[in-house]
Amino acid sequence: MKKEDLRRVLEFYRAIGVESVPCEPKALPGKKAKTRRAAAGKGRPEKQKALSALFNGKIAGCTGCKLSAGRRNIVFGEGDPAARLMFIGEAPGREEDLQGRPFVGDAGKLLTSLIEKMGFKREDVFIANIVKCRPEGNRDPEEDEVGACLPFLKRQIEIIAPEAIMALGRVASQTLLGTTVQISKLRGNFHSYEGIPLMPTFHPAYLLRNRKDKALTWQDARQVLKLLGMESG
Ligand code: URA
Repeated sequence: MKKEDLRRVLEFYRAIGVESVPCEPKALPGKKAKTRRAAAGKGRPEKQKALSALFNGKIAGCTGCKLSAGRRNIVFGEGDPAARLMFIGEAPGREEDLQGRPFVGDAGKLLTSLIEKMGFKREDVFIANIVKCRPEGNRDPEEDEVGACLPFLKRQIEIIAPEAIMALGRVASQTLLGTTVQISKLRGNFHSYEGIPLMPTFHPAYLLRNRKDKALTWQDARQVLKLLGMESG
């Protein structure tokens, strides 16, 4: 289909209220593919240097939103700067705020077991959040807080240039995809974040309360493994 025709079809979908269209991963490379290839061509040391520069230059000591007042630590994210796969959650909780590391509480233990079941170690992937400081009482981050923090995550994704992203839960999935579609409708299909295949899935904290949906999350993870060439069939 020609680009112009595709644009018309998508405009029609949007007009009738369809906010997000699942697509095949191979159809995804988008307008930022060139930038991404350049970033992907960079080695681990350069990426580590770029991430450190981002932290030291823009994030350390940040007072860009009201979350800075209540935090103990900024949770930048951690893992391999050249990771093939990124996991993106919502916001640090109590334990993450105390330790300055993402997903180290109970939900983190479940995420770590998913990562290991997928055949990775935690250090092989990169784990980050939509916002880097803890919202009090673990409430959802507010629009102004997401607005202040999202550029940092976007830059992290640009530097790491992963081959795939797993977005954990509603807030991460809706924020990265710019949609209000429910997580239960988004999950199970690849979507595109700046041309990078993004698989929305359930948040591990939700899975702790709804154990039967772990099987669906594993289905999502298997699709990601297939995309990465780590599982056949
Ligand atoms: N929940 C999240 O979304 N992120 C964390 O880092 C911990 C819990």
